[in-house]
Amino acid sequence: MAEKSDSRTQKILADLDKLAQKLQSDIATIKTEAEQEKLRILYTGRKSKLTEILRGIKSLNDEGKKQVGSKANVLAQQMETQLDDALTKLVNQKLGNIAQTERIDITLPGKKTELGHLHPVTSMLQFAEDIFMKMGFEVVYPYEIDNDYNNFQAVNIPENHPARDAWDTFWLEDGGIAITHTSSMQNRVLLSHKPPIRVIVPGRCFRNEATDARHEHTFFQIEGIYVDKGVTMGDMLGTLGTFFSEFFGKKVDVKFTPDFFPFVEPGGMISLTCFICDGKGCKVCKHTGWLEILGCGMIHPNVLKMGGIDPETYSGFAWGFGLERLIMLKYGIEDIRNFYSGNLKFIRQF
Ligand code: DAH
Repeated sequence: MAEKSDSRTQKILADLDKLAQKLQSDIATIKTEAEQEKLRILYTGRKSKLTEILRGIKSLNDEGKKQVGSKANVLAQQMETQLDDALTKLVNQKLGNIAQTERIDITLPGKKTELGHLHPVTSMLQFAEDIFMKMGFEVVYPYEIDNDYNNFQAVNIPENHPARDAWDTFWLEDGGIAITHTSSMQNRVLLSHKPPIRVIVPGRCFRNEATDARHEHTFFQIEGIYVDKGVTMGDMLGTLGTFFSEFFGKKVDVKFTPDFFPFVEPGGMISLTCFICDGKGCKVCKHTGWLEILGCGMIHPNVLKMGGIDPETYSGFAWGFGLERLIMLKYGIEDIRNFYSGNLKFIRQF
């Protein structure tokens, strides 16, 4: 019995040696990580060749079990190390290949990440809002789609009034309007605020007209509404002069010339001293020394009344200007269509 067990022990020990040799020759043939993984399962996995051989251990005597057991432990460890080494070699080879073919030049500057930025109209809108807020104005945004009442009637332009021709309008099928000016918010602001009222309305406006270097169908306006007791044209000139000096970063003078807008009386245009030539006359100001910038005036009593404000007690002024025009002047941009053309070369300058 003892002899039999001995010979079985010898057989198993010999099988273990063979297994070790076989693994070595198998490892020598692998070329990929997947092949390595297959070998690992075959030799060290749960149903491995090693487990199979060790099944015979049960029939051995204690001495035999001990011998086989310790050899199997050593072998299992060796096989794992050999398989790990084989994997490391494969990975290193791959990296070596990459290094040779791709040649990483660590002195090259890193790849730049593309960062977006605000559109110039957006950032200048925020800049303008900040200036007005510092002067005590509240910001109220308009509805881009509104109705005839707010866009026209409530600012003293009744139905069929010829003044409507001044605003080429996009009408919606349901009678709605893509607002032609931010004056569309005057009535709502007057109704929802109590004097003293200091509100600006920055917003996108739409005009159904052909575009050229100075006209876009879609553009931004900033409306201003100021109502209190005893407000005068002097307050209006002071307020706007302060704003423009801040906006252009240069002290500018403002000049009022009469003009007609149904919602103001008197109404007019504000011009600034041309800051490009300092009023001496140049191409931009058409050699007048002045730049016409915006429409404004003292709010018409009808408009105040429709806004629930008594024109006998209160007076106020309002204005509206196109933001893109101001940006064009500030940066010497000649064509308004640049802003929305999708021309990144242009946009990236800001
Ligand atoms: N809404 C006018 C326009 O779009 C601009 C304007 C002129 C607004 C005079 C005003 C104003 O508030 O008083 O052309």
